[in-house]
Amino acid sequence: MAKSEEYSLGPHTFPRGWFVVAESTELNRGPMAVHFFGKDLALYRGESGVPVMLDAYCPHMKTHLTASDSANIVIVGKQIEGDSIRCPYHGWRFGPDGRCDNIPYHDGPIPRSAVLESYPVEESMGCVMMWYDPEGRKPDYSAPYLQEWSDPQWIHWKLDHLGELAMHPVEILDNMADAQHLGPTHGAPCEYFETEFRDHLYVQRQGGVHAGYGCMLMSSTWYTGPGILLSKQSFGDVLTYELIANTPVDDGLVKVWHGALSRASNIPPTESDIAGAREIQAGALKAFSSDFSIWKHKKPALRVLQIASDGQFAKGRIWYKQFYDQPENAGGYHEKVNGKHHVKGLETPSFEVLALEEGLIQ
Ligand code: FES
Ligand SMILES: [Fe+2]
Repeated sequence: MAKSEEYSLGPHTFPRGWFVVAESTELNRGPMAVHFFGKDLALYRGESGVPVMLDAYCPHMKTHLTASDSANIVIVGKQIEGDSIRCPYHGWRFGPDGRCDNIPYHDGPIPRSAVLESYPVEESMGCVMMWYDPEGRKPDYSAPYLQEWSDPQWIHWKLDHLGELAMHPVEILDNMADAQHLGPTHGAPCEYFETEFRDHLYVQRQGGVHAGYGCMLMSSTWYTGPGILLSKQSFGDVLTYELIANTPVDDGLVKVWHGALSRASNIPPTESDIAGAREIQAGALKAFSSDFSIWKHKKPALRVLQIASDGQFAKGRIWYKQFYDQPENAGGYHEKVNGKHHVKGLETPSFEVLALEEGLIQ
């Protein structure tokens, strides 16, 4: 595996942005010890239902807040109080802002340094999403959300947890520009292909006849920031959304999740609609697994030997770099890449195809 510095991504080791850190159902089972962006982190759900993410190690004696389940307050279910959490060792209590607000055996003032870093966390589409900024700045764009998630006709995904991949996430993003792998890797060569960069958004539009399904497969796919991909896909009368989330674990190591959201024929969806949706997700996972398996076995492409009929890998990497730099410098990257880009020898999307994403990507 190769690291951010080897790809010359920018001053920071990890990118700024919204990232999936857990599935909501996992967090319902209790506090979690997680590791992302090279840090051990404590994730829990407060009694009001809000998810909270704090640095893991208690400033008192460096106990991990959520990694051990042996302490009495954990066993008797008293670790979470309101939206605060008590350290399992001596019971110091930390609020969702990371400040210690109670030491159970002490009347005097609480030391000012008894504070943990707290990270913005939101729940969207069954995922717990965290905003990461290496300098602790607040979010400068919103976490992605699909309106269909709150429409009862759409069957929610149960995420596929694909685990860790020893590849830098920049190479996952390369897939967006990769017009020419669609035939050899996925059996679905594209007839039209386009990428578009719009500030923190990276859009790909492509379509062609799928050898397996024997019908036209069209997709509009977009990254909202560097970590979360959504894709609207239509083939035959099936309409579906796919989610692929990548979150840096350590430099050069990434964790990946996958899901598919499908429209049922009935409201509420029947058992058979749900079984159909699971089948669609399994099919989408199979297609994605073709990439995943290639990634598992490839060497790092620190530079792509890009030829004129390839997609715009280099532009995609420039877009990606904005997240490794200060937000004030993002405009410089936008100037270099914003707009639509085409691939030599491939058509551009028609008006009819563009209707697929009307009003969707913002
Ligand atoms: S180590 Fe956390 S309260 Fe003592
Ligand atoms: Fe792919």
